[in-house]
Amino acid sequence: MKGIILAGGVGTRLHPITIGTSKQLLPVGDKPMVYYPLSVLMLAGIRDILIITKPSDTPNFQALLGDGSHLGLHVSYREQHSPHGIADAILIGAGHIGDGPVALILGDNIFHGNSFSATLTENARSVHGCVLFGYRVNDPREYGVGESDVNGNLISIEEKPQHPRSNRAITGLYLYDNDVVDITKNLRPSARGELEITDVNRVYMERGRARLVDLGRGFAWLDTGTPESLFQAGHYVRTLEERQGVRIACIEEIALRMGFIDADACHRLGSRMASSDYGKYVMAIASDRG
Ligand code: DAU
Repeated sequence: MKGIILAGGVGTRLHPITIGTSKQLLPVGDKPMVYYPLSVLMLAGIRDILIITKPSDTPNFQALLGDGSHLGLHVSYREQHSPHGIADAILIGAGHIGDGPVALILGDNIFHGNSFSATLTENARSVHGCVLFGYRVNDPREYGVGESDVNGNLISIEEKPQHPRSNRAITGLYLYDNDVVDITKNLRPSARGELEITDVNRVYMERGRARLVDLGRGFAWLDTGTPESLFQAGHYVRTLEERQGVRIACIEEIALRMGFIDADACHRLGSRMASSDYGKYVMAIASDRG
């Protein structure tokens, strides 16, 4: 399965912070935001990853992640010239997707929870149609909102409804079979002029091929759209990390645990950041494993 991280957009709700830099490179805790969605893909066992960025941001992402080989990944980049919608990522990434399945994740979505890795690998193993992940929120009006039947099949989906039919927000992680490319090619822009991912998901639902997997209540799905929610996400991450002494979304540690790199390579990555606590953590993890 290929992976795509959509990390474009203009981040207007974070202005002036995002005027000079990409939202997805802002810090959440002690690491850039994009580490979190990247971790999700890595935990699903996905190693071939396309990052879609605004043209002006591409060099910064490249400086951060390069070609991914140091992490045992293959990372490539494509540009989105203006924010035509989330589903546009499928069109931009069609060549990368090829004829197989794909996991698309939004570069500003933060997932954290027990056995997420198992949930992901189980669902990513064989995708027939699409798999969406639902999360209960207090006020779902800002999100895609879905309902499922007792078998987990999606039976309704709406984008930012004024009167939501459920409290289940559709999170920004989408697993698709290869039909997604044709479905997206036939999509028309919505009233706000965007190719809506909810419209893609609706086509799958109408074909009876969309599943909605619930991320339980012990799970965290965090927003980073406003200064307040960005701050809260960072606070959440640091609170857990300090309490438990382990890091969330440490991509070097995940690469090591997933067997993408060995302990020596992991130690070398940490030693390049030895002045920071993050770098020291990476070295310590590698030494424990070495
Ligand atoms: O976060 C989950 C929600 O994401 C879903 O529940 C909604 O169904 C889905 O439409 C989306 O809603 P948002 O209102 O959060 O989408 P937003 O336009 O903020 O875009 C989400 C991220 O994707 C953001 O970091 C910017 C990036 N993006 C967005 C668009 C429209 C792009 O890179 N390019 C784009 O063209």
